[in-house]
Amino acid sequence: MNFSVAVIPGDGVGPEVIARATEALDAVGDIYGHVFNYVELLAGGRAIDETGSPLPPETLEAARQCGAVLLGAMGGPGWDALPGHLRPERGLLGLRAGLGVFANLRPAALLPQLRAACPLKDEVLAASNVEGKPAFDMLIVRELTGGIYFGERGRIESGRGAAFDTEKYSWEEIERVLRVGYASSAARRKKVCIVDKANVMESSRFWREVAAEVSKDYPDIETSYLYVDNAAMQLIRAPGQFDVIVTSNMFGDILSDEASVLTGSIGMLPSASLAGIPGTAGGSPRGIYEPIHGSAPDIAGKNIANPLAAILSVALMLRYSFGLEKEAAALEAAVNRVLDKGLRTSDIAGRGGDNTEKIVGTQEMGAAVLKALEDHWEKKGQG
Ligand code: IPM
Ligand code: MG
Repeated sequence: MNFSVAVIPGDGVGPEVIARATEALDAVGDIYGHVFNYVELLAGGRAIDETGSPLPPETLEAARQCGAVLLGAMGGPGWDALPGHLRPERGLLGLRAGLGVFANLRPAALLPQLRAACPLKDEVLAASNVEGKPAFDMLIVRELTGGIYFGERGRIESGRGAAFDTEKYSWEEIERVLRVGYASSAARRKKVCIVDKANVMESSRFWREVAAEVSKDYPDIETSYLYVDNAAMQLIRAPGQFDVIVTSNMFGDILSDEASVLTGSIGMLPSASLAGIPGTAGGSPRGIYEPIHGSAPDIAGKNIANPLAAILSVALMLRYSFGLEKEAAALEAAVNRVLDKGLRTSDIAGRGGDNTEKIVGTQEMGAAVLKALEDHWEKKGQG
């Protein structure tokens, strides 16, 4: 099969990790007989430098023609002084809204190979287990194109002035992101926790009304509710209790940063932002796939950034937008084998508590994943 991928390498370490990710995608294509056609596009800081806009209209137009978008990172100190509507982040928000990717999936699991990377104490982790093992494995589903990020905002010029931002959600916006949460949980541990601030906010009480209806369609999935302040506490108290968390744009932004620290390895975490509900009719929604680590300008161009989050983002692309589950799983398994062998980029080194580790750079790590993918394929004797 042929697939089109819009590639936005972006700023900072974006280009170097995205180069490793497209190599991995090509290797998957060679093995399984697919062709991925790339269309390279500009957005973020580089787009500001080259075109004056963080999201040139051609970028959005071209991205809409592709099956999926692979994004590196946007932003850096060079563009921090610009006014709000010209900042690189505007490019990101415009791309999300323009492609209608309303559901942001941020998996956060503790990998056994990186056990010592988790800042939680042994007792906390031991009390927090998934299927009998001290660990956690959660998926945060964050609403991405609504709420306070996109609500009415402004300034009021009276006295010394005032400013406001608005949290507003329609039934449809809530329903569709909840359905992504339930559909995801169905293939996991069948627990959905809705995080809100229903003791204070009307919009949260409305989320619960929608959830009461939508949950009826998923009788074998347990639904629970937590206030966001309590959820922030539970995440560090007993993270193993969570399967799928579904929440609003801003709460999801905050909680997903917290969850990422628990894995000890922000350089490992991929994300998917989807314009539809996976596993339903019309089943493989368009998506934006990006590592969550950001542009990390301090280490850009030094061949030390961890490419695994970008490579794992490609696995999510295969799974969600292209419906290629076998290929996605093969890539994820290759990453796992490379970690099993002790290969580490410096951000995840010294975290496994043993001395069998080998520190490698961005390129070597990417090459190791390709090799693990190909070796495994040959060992299985398929071609
Ligand atoms: C994220 C980031 C963005 C967000 C910023 C860069 C606008 O923090 O993807 O989590 O707040 O959504
Ligand atoms: Mg964030």
